[in-house]
Amino acid sequence: MRLRSVELEVPDRDSAVRFLRESWGLLDAGQRNGTSYLRGTEDLPYIVSVAQSGAPTVAAVTFSGSKLEVQKVRKRAAAAGARLGPMRDFDEPGGGSGFLVEGPEGHVFRFLAEKKRVKKLRPDRDRPMQVTHVVLNARDREACSRFAVEVLGFRLSDRTGFMNFVRCDRVHHAIAYAQADNSLLNHVAFEMVDIDAVMRGIGRLKDAGIQPFWGPGRHGPGNNVFAYFVTPFGAALEYTAEVQRVGPSYKVGGPQDWKWPANRNDHWGVSARNSAAIAAAEREFRFRPLAAA
Ligand SMILES: [Fe+2]
Repeated sequence: MRLRSVELEVPDRDSAVRFLRESWGLLDAGQRNGTSYLRGTEDLPYIVSVAQSGAPTVAAVTFSGSKLEVQKVRKRAAAAGARLGPMRDFDEPGGGSGFLVEGPEGHVFRFLAEKKRVKKLRPDRDRPMQVTHVVLNARDREACSRFAVEVLGFRLSDRTGFMNFVRCDRVHHAIAYAQADNSLLNHVAFEMVDIDAVMRGIGRLKDAGIQPFWGPGRHGPGNNVFAYFVTPFGAALEYTAEVQRVGPSYKVGGPQDWKWPANRNDHWGVSARNSAAIAAAEREFRFRPLAAA
């Protein structure tokens, strides 16, 4: 299974798409039925879709796998009594069939078997490769990560004092749950070619008038380099690189393994989190609940 894309809806689709292409570095992957599709340089048909709606919304976080993998998730979800959408074909770049499923706090995941992949493009330091993780706020991160492991078939990689990290392939985390008093989207991370590409991204966003609200830095769990930004359409996005790849022998870390010295919350300690900038981004992305079956 692989994290494939994030399906977003915003009040002003055109300006969000313009930002994602001109500043963030994504490439046009076409339009269908009022939805714009954007891709990175990896072999995925698209990695972000943007549709228009009255309020910022996440329609789904999409994973792609084989038909068998998708069927297995569906079977476990049905057995667990999770809220499930019907099995159906999707009219979008890459096509494929699959379903939507809701986690314990209303986070919506989509699992699909794509009909076709596209050709990888030449690596480009000014363009994201793919979406590498999505962080979700959770009131009960233990219940959420248990759902990811037991129902979605993910593996727990690490737990810190306020986050649980789960993976669906060798990438250290595809989803992380952050302890919060809500179940909103926290941020979406885009993998860049290398650290140089992350730094170039910081410069490109600076040219667009946007300073990182945290970063550059290097995280503990996942060991990835990061820089976070609040975009003009309100979503928090991250450029990241050097995300750790792990295997079955990876030892699950706990809060005691991820303690920082005073005045530090990443390996480098060169930049502090700007909470005012985060608070200023009032446009919160909520998940759209699945229609009752
Ligand atoms: Fe992140």
